[in-house]
Amino acid sequence: MSARNLFLLPGDGIGPEAMGEVRKVIEHMNTHEAAGFTLDEGLVGGSAYDAHGEGISDADMAKAMAADAVLFGAVGGPKWDKVPYEVRPEAGLLRLRKDMELFANLRPAICYPALANSSSLKQDVIEGLDILIVRELTGGVYFGEPKEITDLGNGQKRAVDTQVYETYEIERIAAVAFDLARTRDNRVCSMEKRNVMKSGLFWNEVVTATHARDYQDVELSHMLADAGGMQLVRWPKQFDVIVTDNLFGDMLSDVAAMLTGSLGMLPSASLGAPDPATGKRKALYEPVHGSAPDIAGTGAANPIAMIASFAMCLRYSFEMIDEADRLEAAIAKVLDEGYRTGDIMPSDGQAGLKAVGTVEMGDAVLAAYAG
Ligand code: IPM
Ligand code: MG
Repeated sequence: MSARNLFLLPGDGIGPEAMGEVRKVIEHMNTHEAAGFTLDEGLVGGSAYDAHGEGISDADMAKAMAADAVLFGAVGGPKWDKVPYEVRPEAGLLRLRKDMELFANLRPAICYPALANSSSLKQDVIEGLDILIVRELTGGVYFGEPKEITDLGNGQKRAVDTQVYETYEIERIAAVAFDLARTRDNRVCSMEKRNVMKSGLFWNEVVTATHARDYQDVELSHMLADAGGMQLVRWPKQFDVIVTDNLFGDMLSDVAAMLTGSLGMLPSASLGAPDPATGKRKALYEPVHGSAPDIAGTGAANPIAMIASFAMCLRYSFEMIDEADRLEAAIAKVLDEGYRTGDIMPSDGQAGLKAVGTVEMGDAVLAAYAG
């Protein structure tokens, strides 16, 4: 079996702590299951800025391009609030997405049964929730040109960001959403603002045409993105797959993540197109949560989103479906057993729950995985 090359970019804040727990899982799989993972590690975000003066170095970028999969922690923090925009920590992540052409961002929002009472919404609204947000990740207002602030010379300035989509960009992300829907409840809801934006009108047209051409067996609906946000907090279980652009996807996926009881629980996968020669996709896996500078270094971070991101990596990059299922089941099991990091511990406490830190949570998941 050829080696499975992983490139780790732990990043800033709680990223390295969370990644440490994934390393344990990987080492276990290498030792006990001959999984054959090889690991290399680089810098991204503020830590890369401190070392190289930019969000990611060319050398690490090349390693990311060459790896079978990249595992990414988190970037940013108050320490780098004042660094120039072009080299801010987030620029490292955006360069990875753009240069690796990771246009499809999969953000599942599932509610673990053991956490059904830790959402800010009523238990019956989120119990059993299982939705998937498919966010376009390499286009739209994040990357459109012009993107600038100009001085008008009269004491005023003018800022422009450009929302731009071409047909192929919408077709390929719609196709990903329809394909994934077929493996689930076969329903896709597309969200845009066609009532205000030309790009929304166009998004709607292209999704509709893609559906009519190749995916008539999938149920397609459309919603304005603002109404979609409202429906997500009103009755999220009405959705199966949601497909939307880069900016709306950023916001709606934070909303969806919070529904489940904690942002600290949710993984994501960012995928490129399959290589025509090898069939392999470039891929990066990262938790939806950020670098949480307030708790960084205290050993309190929840490593579950990072571990669950590795489970997605096993599933999508290595077709290790059995291992992915077992790792996800291990996470559900430790939650059932009452293990809770601070972010998922109910404020009033609860009999039978065990307050743990990052390392203990990682150990518990690994023990459950190893059986
Ligand atoms: C996300 C994050 C990023 C984004 C930031 C860190 C650039 O919020 O992955 O959701 O806006 O895409
Ligand atoms: Mg975000």
